[in-house]
Amino acid sequence: MPESITAFAPASIGNVGVGFDMLGLALEGAGDRVVARRTAKAGIVVSEVRGLDGELHPYLSTDPEHNTASIAAWAFWSEHGDSGGIDIAVHKGVPLQSGMGSSAASAVAAVVAVNALLDEPLARNCLLPYALQGEQYASKGIHADNVAPSLLGGLVLCPVFLLPETVSLPVPDGVSAVLLHPELQVNTAHARRGLAKAYSMQQWLTQQACLAGFIAACASGDIALIGRTLKDVVIEPQRSDAVPCFSEVKETAIAAGALGCSLSGSGPSIFALAEEGKARNIAVAMEQACRGFGIECQSWVSPMAAPGAAVED
Ligand code: HSE
Repeated sequence: MPESITAFAPASIGNVGVGFDMLGLALEGAGDRVVARRTAKAGIVVSEVRGLDGELHPYLSTDPEHNTASIAAWAFWSEHGDSGGIDIAVHKGVPLQSGMGSSAASAVAAVVAVNALLDEPLARNCLLPYALQGEQYASKGIHADNVAPSLLGGLVLCPVFLLPETVSLPVPDGVSAVLLHPELQVNTAHARRGLAKAYSMQQWLTQQACLAGFIAACASGDIALIGRTLKDVVIEPQRSDAVPCFSEVKETAIAAGALGCSLSGSGPSIFALAEEGKARNIAVAMEQACRGFGIECQSWVSPMAAPGAAVED
């Protein structure tokens, strides 16, 4: 039996513009790590939480009841573990309140690591409900559009009413996701509370058409149709004002050849989809547009078929 297990879980793009709370895409290049160990004493301990700089995190809690990783890990271990306990250490690689699925990455990495401590680990898709419990603590809502792609990789359809079932969708070859993270913070729970509770028939029809068209376009590799359907007429207009550089960055991305561009999750991150050969230039252009507002930023370019969480030992 292994002494300790390290698991990595990637960042993710929630909503993917067209599918509020029900569509998510894994992102390669950024993610959280959790190291899990068995302990003789029952219960769970968070021995440390380290930030992006490798230092002890200044304000993420090590209280197991107030940490997304431990909430998820304990939900799992209390059902499937033995009478001993677990210790987890969390190493953040995803910036907080970034719209990159930071809380989901911690929760997923924790459950994947703790599952691997079992003599007979559960299948990957059985882990989703436990990771969701950690995510729910952070966002104060049930949505799997960060947890599901972080756990499973790629593009995942995960409407709440189907859970724990999710649908991994085909993605076209040669299309990349570009993710720009402006150094701002948006609290997801707050951003969710502020959303309108009612929408017009026209918005509903348009958004349904975009979601259906986008999924069909991804499945058939119809690049032009991705460009015509990657639109959010419902949520983006309500949230984009919280990101001062959004309109400029979006216009710049489209002008540089992106197929479409929208907020990643509740923002402030902004994602674009683009043909692979154009993606790096689009990332650079988006960074320049963002810095033009005096906002520091970082970008990633990822294949649409980015891998999900993995045990690293
Ligand atoms: N679907 C969630 C939201 C994702 O947009 O509120 C948050 O990352």
